[in-house]
Formats: sequence, structure tokens, C-alpha cells
Amino acid sequence: MQIFSEIEPMRAFLGKLKRDTGTIGFVPTMGALHPGHLSLVKASQSENSTTVCSIYVNPTQFNNADDLAKYPRTIDRDIAMLNEVNCDVLFCPGNDVMYESGSHIKFDFGSLDTMLEGRFRPGHFSGVALVVSKLFHIVNPDNAYFGQKDFQQYKVIEKLVEDLKFNVSLRCIPIEREPDGLAMSSRNARLSLSQRKKATIFYESMKQAAQMLRNGISWSVIQSEIKATFESMDEIRLEYFELADTSNLNSLESVSDKAILLVAGYVGEVRLIDNLLLEA
Ligand code: PAJ
Repeated sequence: MQIFSEIEPMRAFLGKLKRDTGTIGFVPTMGALHPGHLSLVKASQSENSTTVCSIYVNPTQFNNADDLAKYPRTIDRDIAMLNEVNCDVLFCPGNDVMYESGSHIKFDFGSLDTMLEGRFRPGHFSGVALVVSKLFHIVNPDNAYFGQKDFQQYKVIEKLVEDLKFNVSLRCIPIEREPDGLAMSSRNARLSLSQRKKATIFYESMKQAAQMLRNGISWSVIQSEIKATFESMDEIRLEYFELADTSNLNSLESVSDKAILLVAGYVGEVRLIDNLLLEA
């Protein structure tokens, strides 16, 4: 695997590859890689002649300094994992490269920005859009791979690409889960053993809600029952548990042909999110 931390040498390398051979697939990450990230790399490899992964813990998308400081950084292990799956190129820039001239550009995605994650993480999606725009300009990929795990992020990036006419096709890859159903996340490493067991409530509660919806129980009853279950649990704090339309993430009162359950909350000091696409 070729590893670059500077923009120009990687641009020269990728430019030549793009002229000589097919397409470039791109997988942006913040590192602390797990099989979820690798499923994005594999999806890219199945569709492109060259796969580029980036690892960069982007400060502008963290609205909590403590979360940024505690974000796991495991670069040697990450490189070994990417080598193992034969990733072609890794871009791992420093802050001096990504924010050399400072950066005050802000994005506003309207309601997509203020609902769900946006409500609890003000400025988060503006920072994501900024860094993804920079990375798209640097890597110039044909296809880019994002996880359904961060569904609202995917919708924001879809809007970014559409509005700013980025010449890139987006792919949304299904969530990789642990055997007990917990969605894989770099943050899971920060959970204690007992917290790790409790964290299964996120996926379990969505499965339970999906079953209740299938049984014809009204959404308001389901939502308050699930909220009560979360409230009864020690060390768990729910931020939202919502039923939404996949096209715009607006709240739904019943399942339509494009509905998704979304959940976020804390286990101890660790913030987790998850979602489940529903069938009508
Ligand atoms: P990060 O949290 O490292 O995630 C990188 C990509 O992996 C995202 O597209 C995310 O949705 C996907 N992913 C995470 N967990 C997954 C899982 N369990 N199954 C499948 N895919 C999963 O998302 C970011 O980084 C950043 O916001 C970034 C887009 C890199 C911009 O800084």
C-alpha cells in the first residue's frame, strides 16, 4: 500500500493511475478501523481498479473537545488492517495539511442540519461537509463509499454532492454488527465490559419497535414505551428514538415504503448511534 501524508505527491500518483487504468474508489475514515470500515474498502475494491482510504480525525466536526481528545488513534494497527485487505492507497494528512490556512467556511443544510444528530451536535455536519469537500478535491474519486451507520451523514453528503456538483457517485453500505447486534463503532472500544453489555439496548430497542409497528401498535405508544425502557437503565441516557422518512429524515407517524428508525444516546460517557431500515 502506498501511504501519503502530503497532497501533491498523492495527486501526482493518482493522476497517473487515473490516466492509465480505470476508476478510483474512495473510503474516508477517521481511523480506529474495524470490520465496518473494511466492508466499505471491500465494496470499493469490487467496483474500482484503485481504492484510496483516508484516515484523518477531523477537528471541525467535533463539537465536544473531550470527544476529540479521547477519539481512539490506532494508526499502526489501521495500516496493518488495510495492508491485510490489499487497500492500494492510504492518505493520512495532519492538521497542517488539511487546515493549513485556517478555515471558517460554514455549511447550512437547512432542516437536515438541525434535526436528530444536528440537534445534539451543532456544527457537526458543517465540519463533516467541509472535510469531505476537501478530501473529494484532493482525491478526485469516481466513487465514494459511506456507511448506513451514519445515515444522516450520508444524506448530508448526498446533498453536498448534488448542490456543489461534485463529479462523484456515492454508495451507502449496510451496517456491520457485532454478534450480539451492537453496531460496530470506533467508540465501542471506550466501553467498559458492563457498559458493552448494556449497549445492545440500542439495536434491541429498534428491533422491538419494528416488531411492534408490524403488530399495528401506534408510533406514539411505541416511542414512549422504548423511552421508558431506556430511562429505567443505569448508565444509559437516550437522546432520541425516532421514526423518519429516508428521503428527508422528517418524522413519520407510521411506516411508509421508505422508513427508518434512528437512535442515539450515551452509555456512560460514550455516545452511540444506530439505525434500522424498515420494510413497509
Ligand atoms: P468514521 O466514523 O471513521 O466512519 C467512516 C465510514 O465508516 C463512515 O462512512 C461510516 O458510516 C462507516 N462506518 C462506521 N461504522 C460502520 C459499520 N458498523 N458498518 C458499516 N460502515 C460503518 O464517518 C466518519 O468517519 C467521518 O465523519 C468522515 C466521513 C470520515 C469525515 O470526517
